[in-house]
Amino acid sequence: MKSGLTLRALSAISLGLLHLPSAVFAAPSGSCDLSKRANGTGTETEIWGGITPSKDLVWQPCYAEPFECARLEVPLDYFDPDGRKAAIALIRRPATTQEGYRGPVLFNPGGPGGSGVSMVLATGEALGTIIGPQFDVVSFDPRGIGRSTPRANFFDTDVERILFATGAGPGPLVKDGVVSGVERVWAQAQLVGTLAASHDDGYLQHITTENTATDMLRIVQAHGQEKLQYWGFSYGTVLGATFAAMYPDKIERMVIDGVVDADDYYSAAWANSLEDSEKTFQIFADHCAEAGPTNCPFYAPEPADILRNITALQDKLLAEPVIVKTDKFYGIVDHTTLRFTLFRSLYSPYLFYKPLANALAQLAAGNGTALLSVLGAPAPYKCSCDEHEHDFAEVAEAFSAVACNDGAEVPNSLGELQDYWNKLAGEYQFADYWGTIHAGCTNWPKNKKPFHGPFVGNTSFPILLIGNTAGTFLLEPLQHSVANPLSDPVTPLSSAKKMAKGFKDSVVLTIDAGGHCSLYAPSVCASQYVNQYFQNGTLPEEGTVCEPIFKNSFLIPAAESAGGNSSVVERGLTDEDAKLLAAVQEVAGKFGSGSNFPGVSRRSL
Ligand SMILES: *[C@@H]1O[C@H](CO)[C@@H](O)[C@H](O)[C@H]1NC(C)=O
Ligand SMILES: *[C@@H]1O[C@H](CO)[C@@H](O)[C@H](O)[C@H]1NC(C)=O
Ligand SMILES: *[C@@H]1O[C@H](CO)[C@@H](O)[C@H](O)[C@H]1NC(C)=O
Ligand SMILES: *[C@@H]1O[C@H](CO)[C@@H](O)[C@H](O)[C@H]1NC(C)=O
Ligand SMILES: *[C@@H]1O[C@H](CO)[C@@H](O)[C@H](O)[C@H]1NC(C)=O
Ligand SMILES: *[C@@H]1O[C@H](CO)[C@@H](O)[C@H](O)[C@H]1NC(C)=O
Repeated sequence: MKSGLTLRALSAISLGLLHLPSAVFAAPSGSCDLSKRANGTGTETEIWGGITPSKDLVWQPCYAEPFECARLEVPLDYFDPDGRKAAIALIRRPATTQEGYRGPVLFNPGGPGGSGVSMVLATGEALGTIIGPQFDVVSFDPRGIGRSTPRANFFDTDVERILFATGAGPGPLVKDGVVSGVERVWAQAQLVGTLAASHDDGYLQHITTENTATDMLRIVQAHGQEKLQYWGFSYGTVLGATFAAMYPDKIERMVIDGVVDADDYYSAAWANSLEDSEKTFQIFADHCAEAGPTNCPFYAPEPADILRNITALQDKLLAEPVIVKTDKFYGIVDHTTLRFTLFRSLYSPYLFYKPLANALAQLAAGNGTALLSVLGAPAPYKCSCDEHEHDFAEVAEAFSAVACNDGAEVPNSLGELQDYWNKLAGEYQFADYWGTIHAGCTNWPKNKKPFHGPFVGNTSFPILLIGNTAGTFLLEPLQHSVANPLSDPVTPLSSAKKMAKGFKDSVVLTIDAGGHCSLYAPSVCASQYVNQYFQNGTLPEEGTVCEPIFKNSFLIPAAESAGGNSSVVERGLTDEDAKLLAAVQEVAGKFGSGSNFPGVSRRSL
């Protein structure tokens, strides 16, 4: 094969299906190579195919020191415990001290569809630093996902999947609160639903968050423990809340971070997720104007001008897409690509805003190369000689399998979809992408009653919820800030506050920053609270607000954005705190810059 088709690898700590960007074509990546190794220890297929699923946790070394892997056998259907089995792929980074050993803390990176195995491979050490050395850092690919089997899969081959995704065409367009281009998205959803049904041998209906919550209990019990210790991000907060609603007496520690309104999620409406996005987009303009032309290449003196300039760029691309050709990749920057990149950048202002501003400035000058690289340079898709090489890879179907199975039935009607989308677009400017989630479930082969709470419980230990303000109210006084956040009736923390109401004595910790989850708003203060919560169960006072270490996402010292600690001494941090800070930045950096985990070729969320 001369050149590989590329789909951009995306961060795992996130929520929501993102319409895939237009295809980017990568330069030749070498011929297929059967001896290819995942980090020198075997291919993913060799690693996971080499572990026999069992009812007990049998850990064996995998990847590289100090990681250990296991496959836990669980019923595919908990109502039929003797029937067909699923195998949950687990990984752990063992506690680094046996003194005062405290058992496993389970992690979920979000999605739905995100891989916990990939998360721990990339960030297990850093996560261990944050929670403390007495805990095993443990995660798993939830059922249906990645290395867990049976895996959600709607295609006969990898190439078919890639070709399907690259044929997605331009995304929908929002103009004056009205969405156009819904027809094509709807038709694609019809096709995806049909493909899902035709590849379903009965496994699909069991890929649910409700079942994954029970899998978590099985994992805890297989560790010989009675109660769960857990830290879940984004969609991982739905998983956490579901567990808490089902097993309130089985909680030892639970942090839910970047909190989703579980009622909204299970209703399949996805109606109130976008509040933060609006404000976080505003921060791009506010911070850019504040940072000045040297630090923000897309500078204009007024934030409103910056936003207008972005709109102008979008309009220009609608009229005339820009082509990109480098030695390593080539592709097209069209309206869809730009919208996708803008929206995706909101997840992590500290990582993406500076490169985004640079890319926008270059794009305004007609050069789209930087824009295609903002979210991480495109990685080539390689055809394999071994048809089983990607059997345990993460694939995009995982998202719809979980989200559509979990969600209430979505009417299979183009007219109703158009109405839904127009309503969303009347409220949120990023409705063009967000609406694709609901749209994706229109023709879903549904045959079960989804879980829907209620999300209440007298939990055996109080839950710690973490939410970001999106940063608006603690910005340095900005005369030119368009929004007046203090008068905004809908607080971006509303979901965390709403979910907290259901769970006895739970506390919401606020980080006054933009971005998604605590890890994208590095804050020593928040990391200290998480550490103390896991270490000795201390919860912050109700109403506690932590500040991030950097206010303006364009004014981060270079060494710090790269994970260094140049100004740690200036900040007067203790060694302990400096370590926490480095750890949280490492996690953010690893996830934010796309994924280069072995075996991860593409993701949709
Ligand atoms: C891959 O191997 C290198 C060196 O052996 C190690 O530093 C790294 O952590 C490994 N990565 C993974 C994901 O196992
Ligand atoms: C942005 O807007 C300002 C004010 O309208 C204008 O002077 C400037 O040329 C614009 N910059 C770009 C890159 O479009
Ligand atoms: C476009 O920008 C890239 C850097 O992002 C640069 O390497 C390249 O030379 C530019 N292309 C042109 C035609 O100026
Ligand atoms: C929690 O406990 C209180 C007091 O015992 C009780 O009134 C309430 O119904 C319980 N809530 C749940 C969800 O079990
Ligand atoms: C909890 O742990 C922190 C350090 O992690 C310590 O400062 C604090 O005193 C501890 N609190 C209790 C009640 O042990
Ligand atoms: C921070 O910098 C000091 C030197 O200034 C170095 O010794 C230390 O290892 C660094 N810590 C981290 C966590 O990178």
